[in-house]
Amino acid sequence: MTYSRIAGTGRYLPERIMTNHDLEQMVDTSDEWIRTRTGVERRHVCADDETVSQMCIEAAKIAMDAAGVTASDIDMVITGTTSPDLIFPNVSTIIQHELGIPACTAFSLEAACTGFIYALSTADKFIKAGEAKCALVMGAECITKLVDWSDRNTCVLFGDGAGAVILKPSEEPGIISCHLGADGQYKDLLYYPVGASKNLAAAGTADARIMMTGNEVFKVAVKTLGRIAAETLEKAGVSKEELDWLVPHQANIRIIQAMAKRLDMPMEKVIVTVQDHGNTSAASVPMALDVGIRDGRLKKGQLILTEAFGGGFTWGSVLLRL
Ligand code: ACO
Repeated sequence: MTYSRIAGTGRYLPERIMTNHDLEQMVDTSDEWIRTRTGVERRHVCADDETVSQMCIEAAKIAMDAAGVTASDIDMVITGTTSPDLIFPNVSTIIQHELGIPACTAFSLEAACTGFIYALSTADKFIKAGEAKCALVMGAECITKLVDWSDRNTCVLFGDGAGAVILKPSEEPGIISCHLGADGQYKDLLYYPVGASKNLAAAGTADARIMMTGNEVFKVAVKTLGRIAAETLEKAGVSKEELDWLVPHQANIRIIQAMAKRLDMPMEKVIVTVQDHGNTSAASVPMALDVGIRDGRLKKGQLILTEAFGGGFTWGSVLLRL
């Protein structure tokens, strides 16, 4: 049986940092409110001319280096994103070409904040089926370009960035189990009202902004993430005591703390980046993985649960051994 395993990770964060104090100058908010309600202290914001593909390319180069692979080794590129460069061609083809990766399967995948978990799970299936030998899997967002900077309900939450992993076949797992889900009945609680075939004329107007019923999102997120964490562990026959680390989606410190509590995990066993990155949507889990690996907390052989929740709603979790 062939499994897939993460061979290397990388991340890229835009140069510009926006602090809570910067936001105090823009909307009626306070550093204290943002920190206590969300855990966010600062976030990176991409430049006007910066794109998801550019950020992914930088993150990918670092991941390729860490995995010891070159462009010619890669035969699959998947990017989870809701803020791609263009509607088409899909952003993975731009990344494939710019990195000099030979022609291969390359697509992007849109599942809001769960985009990377969906992408990782998809690449895992291709590798297990023997249809890919070396996958470049990314989660990336220029989500601040969709933010209304005059809306204090949403503008304090988000940040930009890109995370990348190289996934390769392995005799040992690797990716142990993946659990994906979605329920469109919640579509009106979190959405962006402009797309290619709906409301395109509103692009660039005040109506084009993230719409969110924050407290309802919060409640469903905590309930759903708790349930899927339990389901993922049960499916894999793993008890919560066996987990070495939780690497959660970084939407809100209070959601992360609630998840840790449900898993009886002390916060020392949770990778938290929300204070530095904000909610980077699909980029948050791969960037948190990279942070934990590079600062030496996440070590080879350890058992890690990752999870994410986003607009749709979509949700997903991956149990893996590094
Ligand atoms: N500064 C100061 N006050 C604010 C701000 C702000 N930035 N934003 C809202 N408020 C006010 C509200 O207007 C409200 O005032 P009111 O009581 O006078 O009406 C008050 O604070 C409380 O508002 P709530 O929305 O009830 O506050 P809550 O405790 O729920 O926190 C938050 C809001 C942080 C958005 C929280 O609900 C949350 O994190 N929800 C989940 C959001 C999320 O994770 N979204 C993304 C997930 S999916 C994805 O990542 C795409």
